[in-house]
Amino acid sequence: MAQRTTISVIKADIGSLAGHHTIHPDCMAAASRILAEGKRNGVISDFYVTHVGDDLVLIMTHTKGVDNPEVHGLAWEAFKKAAEIAKELGLYAAGQDLLSDAFSGNVRGLGPAAAEMEIEERPSEPIVIFAADKTEPGAYNLPLYKIFADPFNTAGLVIDPRLHDGFIFEVVDVFEDKGVHLKTPEELYDLLALIGTPSRYVIRRVFRKDGRIGAVVSVERLNLIAGKYVGKDDPVMIVRAQSGFPAVGEVLEPFTFPHLVAGWMRGSHNGPLMPVPVRDARPTRFDGPPRVIALGFQVKNAKLVGPSDLFDDPAFDKAREVANEVADYMRRHGPFMPHRLDPSEMEYTTLPQVLEKLKDRFKPVKELPEPEERPAGASEEEAHD
Ligand code: F6R
Ligand code: MG
Ligand code: MG
Repeated sequence: MAQRTTISVIKADIGSLAGHHTIHPDCMAAASRILAEGKRNGVISDFYVTHVGDDLVLIMTHTKGVDNPEVHGLAWEAFKKAAEIAKELGLYAAGQDLLSDAFSGNVRGLGPAAAEMEIEERPSEPIVIFAADKTEPGAYNLPLYKIFADPFNTAGLVIDPRLHDGFIFEVVDVFEDKGVHLKTPEELYDLLALIGTPSRYVIRRVFRKDGRIGAVVSVERLNLIAGKYVGKDDPVMIVRAQSGFPAVGEVLEPFTFPHLVAGWMRGSHNGPLMPVPVRDARPTRFDGPPRVIALGFQVKNAKLVGPSDLFDDPAFDKAREVANEVADYMRRHGPFMPHRLDPSEMEYTTLPQVLEKLKDRFKPVKELPEPEERPAGASEEEAHD
């Protein structure tokens, strides 16, 4: 019987070095020690710890299925330990994403975000793990559409009979907590009508038409969970590649276009998503620009082989250059939209206070008084008083 393996990628912002900038190595080491113990005790089969910006990312393989209380418990313990170190070191916003002490079997809803898939391992199972900082889960909508539905990106959709049937997209309305399955290419325009609003309609999973899973994204929206701003959702994603799925190169291709995503500075600005190697996953300029990393693994008998740091390649230099150009261009808008997000999307903002302060001064437009005109010269005289 083929091996059934679960890949769980769980991430949290447990505090960071020099503002919301990067994870401290001691926090990574603390999390690794907890996961190593979990591996020895048979909770998980294998793990890899990494980070993107201020988010600690735990990549785990096991045979316990998705939403497993033991595996989630282990991740929770790793985050708690890392947060403890962050507090000791006085790191910034230590424990930020650990919203509650009431862990009861699942990290969902408590702050961390999880992307998990259970698969029947193919003889060779290449996967790509993505993790992004200073952005939101809908940031993967555009790349996922290109990977699984756009023949100008994915040649296999046209050429490979195993991809030719298309895929099923699971789209979640994160405000209503409802989802819908849409088939491509048949319902391509319906799909685009939804996912073009990435703040609300988020692609959570993609399946082949034979039901095999191809991709999964963490779609927790932290600000909806907490009811107030507690950091961006900085999403992770798992994508399967090759032999009936898009090739690794087709999975990476959309990231040559650094599309605009929400979440830069104070979770309140649009900026280009820059693909970077892990060593450059440290947002600086205006707390950004938003970044994404991609790690390639092979999964064999529930063990992780790898990773290869896939954006550590001159082939993505041009995308980074364009991202820097776009960052300059967007920054020049200062506090103006569309650099700054639409008010409904701004996570924490002075706007409600400004409106409250001005509320009695707002009048019907016709009733607005003309400002009093002073006699000519008066202002200059006054200026000499
Ligand atoms: C956090 C983020 C940052 C912070 C900003 C202000 O993920 O995106 O841009 O929002 O650095 O942080 P505070 O309010 O903690 O000073
Ligand atoms: Mg942070
Ligand atoms: Mg972050």
